[in-house]
Amino acid sequence: MSQDAIVRKYRSEDREVVREISWNTADKGRTVDLYFHDHEAVADFLMRYYTDWEPQSLWVAECDGIVVGYLTGCLDTHRCDRVIARKIVPAAVLGAIRRGALWRAETYRLLAAFIKTAWAGGRPRPDLNKYPAHLHINLRQGFRGWGLGRQLIEHFRRQVLEQSIRGIHLVAWGENEGGRRFFETMGFRLLGEQPLILPEGRGYKRTLTVIYGWTKED
Ligand SMILES: CC(C)(COP(=O)(O)OP(=O)(O)OC[C@H]1O[C@@H](n2cnc3c(N)ncnc32)[C@H](O)[C@@H]1OP(=O)(O)O)[C@@H](O)C(=O)NCCC(=O)NCCS
Repeated sequence: MSQDAIVRKYRSEDREVVREISWNTADKGRTVDLYFHDHEAVADFLMRYYTDWEPQSLWVAECDGIVVGYLTGCLDTHRCDRVIARKIVPAAVLGAIRRGALWRAETYRLLAAFIKTAWAGGRPRPDLNKYPAHLHINLRQGFRGWGLGRQLIEHFRRQVLEQSIRGIHLVAWGENEGGRRFFETMGFRLLGEQPLILPEGRGYKRTLTVIYGWTKED
């Protein structure tokens, strides 16, 4: 590992780079381009809550002065859900429409996949009394396997414990074997799985999301 790899709290000047890493790594560590090309919209959905509403729970990994990954934490998932539904989704949808989303077939395929997922019973949610906090974590390719993921999790876990919050959950793609082994190594346990329908070629494929949880009693 580089001598100068560190984990620190997010600063407002990191906003653009964490947004870029989010769409570049969201598909099991790869870009989202297989599903959607409006990177601004993807970054709005994935990052806006954390950068604009709860930056104090956002951690970044920095290597030789450059941000190479992040952990977006949230201490109160109910609040996050409310902000996303009332503020972030309407603004992100409007922005995507302004950039021409209604003229692109991929928009309708993604929308259909969301509806099919909901129809199949997929909206992963654990018991939020036990696991009120949640996180997402992503490192740029080339900076994985150096211990930065472990450090990011440890910083956020300390923050959660300091606030006397009981537990953390996260949702990952079922097919993300590497990510799943990482979370299991970090002491998260599998709580359940849910169907996920995704566009594939001219059709759709059925896959899974998995939910992991951690509490200090575990
Ligand atoms: C998953 C991810 C955050 C892990 O961070 P990382 O810095 O690569 O992991 P670390 O080097 O800190 O590893 C911590 C431990 O997890 C294990 N681990 C990490 N990645 C692993 C993998 N792909 N397969 C098996 N074990 C793995 C390590 O062996 C290590 O265990 P050890 O300390 O006992 O040796 C990072 O690889 C990543 O961003 N991947 C792409 C995006 C992703 O999958 N995000 C998470 C799903 S939403």
